[in-house]
Parts: sequence; C-alpha cells; structure tokens
Amino acid sequence: MCGIIGYVGSENAVPIILEGLRKLEYRGYDSAGIAVRGVSGFEVVKQKGRLAALEKRLEGQRIQGQMGIGHTRWATHGEPSDVNSHPHLGSGSKIAIVHNGIIENYRQLKERLERKGVVFVSQTDSEVIAQLTEYYYNGNLLDTVIRVSSVLEGSYALAIMCLEEPEVLIATKKDNPLIIGAAADAHFIASDVPALLSHTNKVYYLDDKEIAVIKKDSVQFYNQDKEPVTKSLETITWSVDSAEKGGYPHFMLKEIMEQPTVLRDTVRSALTRGTNNAVINSLDINSFNKIVLTGCGSAYNAGMVAKYVFERLCRISVEVELASEFRYKDPIIDSKSLVILVSQSGETADTIAAMREAKAKDAVTLGIVNVMGSTIAKEADYTIYTYAGPEIAVATTKAFSAQLVLLYILAVRFAVKSGKLSEDEGQNLLREIEALPAKAAEILADIDPIQKYASQCVGCKSIFFIGRNIDYAIALEGSLKLKEISYIHSEAYAGGELKHGTISLIEENTLVVAISCSERLYSKIYSNVEQVISRGAKVFLVSNTCKACPDDKLTLLDLPQVNELLSPSLSVIVLQLFSYYVAANKGLDIDKPRNLAKSVTVE
Ligand code: F6R
Repeated sequence: MCGIIGYVGSENAVPIILEGLRKLEYRGYDSAGIAVRGVSGFEVVKQKGRLAALEKRLEGQRIQGQMGIGHTRWATHGEPSDVNSHPHLGSGSKIAIVHNGIIENYRQLKERLERKGVVFVSQTDSEVIAQLTEYYYNGNLLDTVIRVSSVLEGSYALAIMCLEEPEVLIATKKDNPLIIGAAADAHFIASDVPALLSHTNKVYYLDDKEIAVIKKDSVQFYNQDKEPVTKSLETITWSVDSAEKGGYPHFMLKEIMEQPTVLRDTVRSALTRGTNNAVINSLDINSFNKIVLTGCGSAYNAGMVAKYVFERLCRISVEVELASEFRYKDPIIDSKSLVILVSQSGETADTIAAMREAKAKDAVTLGIVNVMGSTIAKEADYTIYTYAGPEIAVATTKAFSAQLVLLYILAVRFAVKSGKLSEDEGQNLLREIEALPAKAAEILADIDPIQKYASQCVGCKSIFFIGRNIDYAIALEGSLKLKEISYIHSEAYAGGELKHGTISLIEENTLVVAISCSERLYSKIYSNVEQVISRGAKVFLVSNTCKACPDDKLTLLDLPQVNELLSPSLSVIVLQLFSYYVAANKGLDIDKPRNLAKSVTVE
C-alpha cells in the first residue's frame, strides 16, 4: 500500500531509488515518482502508471543528486494522475516528501493552510504534510517534523527532504512500516526489506513516532520530545536472490515452486530448538477456554483451515473472524482467550487493529507473521515466524502454506498438552507434518496436467470451488486466488450448501473445482459432483480419495496420500497453480493484479 524509499550517500541517487522502487512496486502501482536534491534545488519527476512509465520518462534526463526519495502509489485520496503522484512539495519547493498512509484530518489542516494563503495543487491527503512542513519550517527540519507529526492524525510513513539542509534526510512513521538501512557510505529509508537487500542487510526498525535524522555516514533517532533514542542494528537473514525472479516468468510461480523449502524451514523452526519452538512450548492451552483466529484475505482462509484442525485435535471452541469485522463487533473475549493474528506482512491495518482490540480486552495475542520487525511481530504478546522469505507476488502462496504448517504444529502441541492426544499420537502427526515438504515437491514435479487443464479454462465466466469441512476451507483460498489474479468471477461453497441456492447458477459447461481429501466425506462430495454434472457442469476433481473414472465431464487430479487434516497443504498447491496458469494463459500481469496492493496498510 504505497512503497517509499530514500537514499543519502555518495552515488547518484536516481538509479538506486528506481531499483528500490522496482522491489516495492508490489505495494502499489498506479503511479510513481522521484525527487533528488540537485545542485540548484529539487528535481522532481512524477508519472501516472507503472514504474516502467516513470523510467521511460526519466530516460535521457540528466537528473543527478546524492540524496533523494521515491514513491510507488496505491491511490487512496485523489485519482491516479501525475499531479497526485508523490513526491509532494511545499508551495515554495523547499520541502519534498513521500508518504505511505492516510492523514485523517487532512481536510481541516488543508483548510487552515488555505486560509493562510497556501495553494494546494493535488487532491491528495499527503500534500498537506509537505505544505505544513514548509509552513512551520524554522531552520531546523527535526524540530519542524516533530511539530508537524504532533498535529497529524491517521497513519504515516514519511521520508522528508529540505532544500536548506542538503545533507539531511528525515524519516518518521506511525502505524505504517519503515526501516532504515545502513551501509558503509550510505543510508537508506524503505517500506520493506527487499528494497535494500542489494545494498545492505543491516537495518534499524523505526518505532511509531520515532524520528530518524539520516546523513550519509550517520543516523540518529529521537522521540517526540527530541530525546535521543538508542536503537540496535538488526541483521536480515534473507538473501539478495530471494527477492529476484531467478529465471521464472513471475514471482508467483517462483514462490509456488519454493514451497517445499519454505515448508521444510518453517516446520524445522517450530520443531527444533529456537524461538518458534520456545514460544510454542511456552503457550499453555489449558489457560484458555477459547481460540479466535483472525486475519484478512488468505490469512483469514488459513484461519478457516486451522479451525477444523484445532477443533478436531484440541476439542476447544475456535472462532474465525475477519479482522476488519472483529474490531467493530465488541468481541466476546477476555484473559482466557487466545487471539491468533495471522499476517504475512505483519502490517495489515485491520489485523493490527484487531490485535489492539484483543489486547485492550486482556486476551493473549499470538502473531503468526512472516516479516521480522513488523508491527504485529513487535506488539503481539507472542510471535512465531513463518520462514517464507520475502514474498513479492501480490497473491500470497508460500507464506500461506507456511502459516498452515505453523498452525498445524500449534494444534498438535496444544492437543498433547491438554491431554486430547497422547504423546505418541502427537509424534505421529508431527512426523506426517515433516513429510509434507516431500509430498509438496511430488506435486510440483508434475505440473503439466494442471497447466494443460488451466489453459482450457481461460474462457470461463465463472468458476465454483466446492469441498466439505476442511476441503471447503481450502476451497475458499482456491477461489480467492483465482479471482484476484485471473479476474474470473468465482465463489467457494460448502458442497452440501449448493442445493440451497447456488446450484441455480450452474449451466452447461460451468466449471466446478471440487476438492476431496477426506475419505469419510468422499461419498458426500461426490454426490455434489454428480448433482452439478447432471446439470451440465464440468468438474475438475482434486482428490486423493477418488474412486470415479474420468470422462468428458470429469477431470481428475490425484494428490499424494496424506492425513485429512493436513491435506490443504497439498490441495492448495494445485489450486495455486491452476489460478496461475489460467491467468498466465490470459496474458495478465500476475504479480501485480489490477486494483490490488500486497500490504494493505490502510483501513
Ligand atoms: C491474497 C492475499 C491477501 C492477503 C491479505 C492479508 O492472495 O495476499 O488476501 O492475504 O491482504 O495480508 P497479510 O497476510 O500481509 O496480513
């Protein structure tokens, strides 16, 4: 949800900022812009459209400067246009800023400045920050930023330059992520780690309302009272290659293919000595009478899968809540509730709000997060990490799979602790979880049938996904994946529910993807398959329990044998690949689907 980058060093900032923006483009891609501190002032170039359009516009321009800021936008206030793109300047072009977030009181601030004669040029909320900073500027940028941030309401991650302080770059944030990268002869600001990895793996994580005064060879941190703050330099373990496509046409395909490794690393982190393992062991299920799983989009779907696993293994009541709803429903939780926040980025605004609501009601909060140093990782009472590495494609795949395995392991540990499973039963299940990476690799070694089938589905107007129990939970994820990257309408239904309304939508050749990995429910889902086939549907049956023979209406995709409760980890791979190849055959921009952004840091 908007990516920002800043650089101060001894090289030309332009290529460094563009390279960083390329790595951040997943956060928003309806316009982009750059400002550098040139010899005679700020040089600003902004362009509606993808980053490539900005790069084209910059071709042949001799913009130079050793300090600069850049932005890739996901519009919230004001349509995508050149003028609404960032960076924004104050009216006298003394201040340049890039902003990620939403300034909720921007109208009042704007009106106040307009009454004083300040002329605004854009429709954005962000411009008010540039205008206000310029209006208040008193010869000291740090003092001015402290003053400005004390009147801003809402969320922001900011990089700010001032013409009169040519060596200083300022960064500050509230409720949106921002990191400061430190290299030998340069410092960086970025919304996320991949933007910095080719320059440094040493970062400071900025906390809310802290201000960083950044120069080429130093960085100092302050709080709102201008007191110095000491922060430690953290080392990122992600490799530079992990943020590159590595020969794949899209990040999404690369990330799907990485799943065996990601599953292996994540399972290992939870089962062998280390912080994940220690956190899981320290949680005592017996002190809770309720588990609530919350998140957004795919993270919510991971919660839907986990509900079946926790309830079956632990016999504890589990609720799954959309984070955007949870925060407004006055949830019935207390100190005996465990609220699990599932989030790849750890920065999703609704999930953060759900976490804060849960904490305010004394619930114990556990984050399942991929990004170290993110808000949920820092604020939740406990955090366990998915070892997915950087996930660049907007549609999540490997992080989702890593969330699932951590949730399975948590459920098994809880079940043993609460006496619902014996030690031996627990060990057996853990061994089955350890076998998942090899089974995932087996599916990925033979993707041709999925690719071929998907290539015949590009003309579909609507695709239904059905399953029962845990297969229904993973059908939700299959349907979401398809919609978001292929733009084909899709719905997921519990198989038994079709006849209560949705079956009226089935017509000749409507495609239904059915998932069946539960021996005990096979006959139930298969009768739903027959019901839709008899009304003209074609069915793609993803199953390890299938006893039927394929024909012109029924295509089978065999999955390896696996415990029913763990089967979503395998069926989801087929569903991801199916969506990927449908979208690829439609020639769509798979890694950056329209209207979306990866990290949704606004409400
Ligand atoms: C779908 C997708 C989104 C995210 C959701 C939550 O493919 O990626 O639905 O799952 O925006 O994001 P995180 O996990 O970062 O909180």
